[in-house]
Amino acid sequence: MKKLILFDAFGTLFSLSIQLDELDKYTHGKSELLLDRWRSKQLTQTWLLQTMNRYQDFGAVSAQTLDQVMRELGFTDQAIRDLLLPIYHHPNMFNDVIQGLGKLKSLDVQLFILSNGTPSMLSAGIQKSRLNELLDGFISVDEIKSYKPAPAVYKYALSKLGYLKKDVLFVSSNQWDVAGAYFTGLPSVWLNRDAILFDDFGHQPIAEIKSLLELKDYLK
Ligand code: LAC
Repeated sequence: MKKLILFDAFGTLFSLSIQLDELDKYTHGKSELLLDRWRSKQLTQTWLLQTMNRYQDFGAVSAQTLDQVMRELGFTDQAIRDLLLPIYHHPNMFNDVIQGLGKLKSLDVQLFILSNGTPSMLSAGIQKSRLNELLDGFISVDEIKSYKPAPAVYKYALSKLGYLKKDVLFVSSNQWDVAGAYFTGLPSVWLNRDAILFDDFGHQPIAEIKSLLELKDYLK
């Protein structure tokens, strides 16, 4: 049977980095602080909503948490929103993605995204980066209204695509995502481009790689 590789999207295939010069005009040089706090609040919100069984899609969560962080930091200029919210529909790709996925494509594997992003974010990002030539498709958690790292999400992807755990490799740069897949029984690879330390969730990924170019070595 073919193997399936599931990729996280944001932070793994798609970069959320932006040119800070334009944003700095409205944040008085506090763009990094704003971006860090936003990402942190946005992720925390998805996990809290998941725990409370109160799913709202990633677009709504992203907008609400950006508004909240802007209020906390005293930023009122709506130009900040106009610059930041579209990032999720027009993300850049990391520079190892095309070559890394291209190498995998020549093997007998299916390549899918499994993301907390909305279907419209994912299809726009895939289209912008022309990843549709390499990917077999994507699954948004919006299909089951639950957020990763809930085990139900990873299980849903397997059952939708008709795969057994042993035939799947899950790849993410997000440590909580690697842990969630691992605790659901999926062999998981941590993509650690920035050489940071692994958060201790009481397990280790089957592999740690620095670039997607290394991934083909872990396909058995
Ligand atoms: C994803 C982000 C949230 O699931 O990492 O694509």
